[in-house]
Amino acid sequence: MTDSLITAPLKRLTTRAPGLRLSTDPGDMEHYGRDWTRRWTPAPLAVALPSSVEEVQMIMRWANEEGVAVVPSGGRTGLSGGAVAANGELVLSLERMNRVLDFNAVDRTLTVQAGIPLEAVHNAAREHGLAYPVDFGARGSCSIGGNIATNAGGIRVIRYGNTREWIAGLAVVTGKGDLLELNRGLIKNSSGYDLRQLMIGSEGTLGIVVEATLRLTDPPPPTNVMLLALPSFEMLMKVFAAFRERLGLEAFEFFTDRALHHVLAHGAQKPFDEVHPYYVVTEFAVGDEQLEAAAMAAFEHCLEQGLVSDGVISQSDAQAAQLWRLREGITESLARWRPYKNDVSVRISAMPAFLAQTQALLGREYPQFDVVWFGHIGDGNLHINVLKPEGMDDGEFVGHCEQVTKLLAQALERHGGSISAEHGIGLVKKPYLLGTRSEAEVEVMRGIRRVLDPNGVLNPGKLFDP
Ligand code: FAD
Ligand code: MLT
Ligand code: ZN
Repeated sequence: MTDSLITAPLKRLTTRAPGLRLSTDPGDMEHYGRDWTRRWTPAPLAVALPSSVEEVQMIMRWANEEGVAVVPSGGRTGLSGGAVAANGELVLSLERMNRVLDFNAVDRTLTVQAGIPLEAVHNAAREHGLAYPVDFGARGSCSIGGNIATNAGGIRVIRYGNTREWIAGLAVVTGKGDLLELNRGLIKNSSGYDLRQLMIGSEGTLGIVVEATLRLTDPPPPTNVMLLALPSFEMLMKVFAAFRERLGLEAFEFFTDRALHHVLAHGAQKPFDEVHPYYVVTEFAVGDEQLEAAAMAAFEHCLEQGLVSDGVISQSDAQAAQLWRLREGITESLARWRPYKNDVSVRISAMPAFLAQTQALLGREYPQFDVVWFGHIGDGNLHINVLKPEGMDDGEFVGHCEQVTKLLAQALERHGGSISAEHGIGLVKKPYLLGTRSEAEVEVMRGIRRVLDPNGVLNPGKLFDP
């Protein structure tokens, strides 16, 4: 600890929790004070790295007594500023609470501490011959606690749903420091409000997830991956319908030529000689002749109808990984531009009209910007990333993007969509929450927050203001 930064409240915390690992090292403060948005300057009070539930409870009780704000922190891969500590908060990192606690073969559940990385959960499930199916590019760095707090989606929602579907039980320390054991792994439980589900997607504003019991499933079937090139945007949902009708889809993801351009510049391998405006990566179950024939039938149908202009199907796991890299590598390939991210959703049925209107809107508003589209189109979820032009002032860039997001939010309101499909509201999308949720809904949320965190110490300023 840096002596000059140990304030009186921190001294009292070390007295109360003598074994607690606490850091005021400037490198740690910078590292733990920001997330992937890189938009705010980290300025936490200190970083706490508890190793037990009891230590988490001690921190929360101390925070209430001292009036210190606490930011729960997982892998900080969040894209909405939810884990940012820029106002003298204590960062409470779950990083050291990263163990598997129990595997139950009969219940097919895995109980873990919240700081465990998603990939370690995948590996643990696989060791037991089962699978945890929520998956996405940040798997190596994000934590299960962060996934729960954001109700993370990812590339297999079309088949398996969001994180919400896979949580059988939670242990949560509330803003007051109470420990709640929610649902205890039950499949059926009609004994009142489901507080477990309330915690999922609450972005660290109601409680700190300390442990989770995860449902596991059968390992995925053998699959093939196909990359499709599309001549126009209007074809996208028609191709989706043609594939969904014929195949058991495991994933259906899309990206534009601009996205491909950035991933290729970042080292991925070029899939086609020609340039096409739009691409889809889809993964589907194979393994018998009927399924393989269905895949070819879907592709040929699309080719005949002029819905796709080219395609390639994986012949090996290595090639499948190569095709996936074109989609999964996008976020990393854009990171150096610190993109302004939009993560919006509408019902699949509203997608064609919404796509057309959004394309027209962004074409008009962003003629001079590099706008990169990609996303989980099979879930009605689009990611629209705007890259900051070299040399443009940060404030000017964000100001312009916020104006456009306001228009996007209005379009979403008309289509009954959401301003955050899977990344959360955090700080980035807070000004637009009321386009997606009514005043009455937000008022209920405020009331719930007051009950679980009466002194407002848990992640204040995130999601909505008091
Ligand atoms: P953090 O960033 O640390 O925190 C996120 C929020 O959760 C914050 O509000 C924080 O306060 C809160 N929080 C963290 N831990 C806890 C806890 N234990 N208890 C209570 N609150 C907590 N997201 C998707 O949904 N789908 C994707 O496909 C996807 N792909 C991504 C790809 C890349 C390359 C990157 C960088 C990010 C991607 N994300 C995606 C976003 C991000 O990975 C997810 O939001 C993830 O769930 C965040 O987990 P984390 O541990 O990093 O959380
Ligand atoms: C993705 O789908 O790749 C993620 O949500 C990350 C992102 O939007 O950049
Ligand atoms: Zn996504």
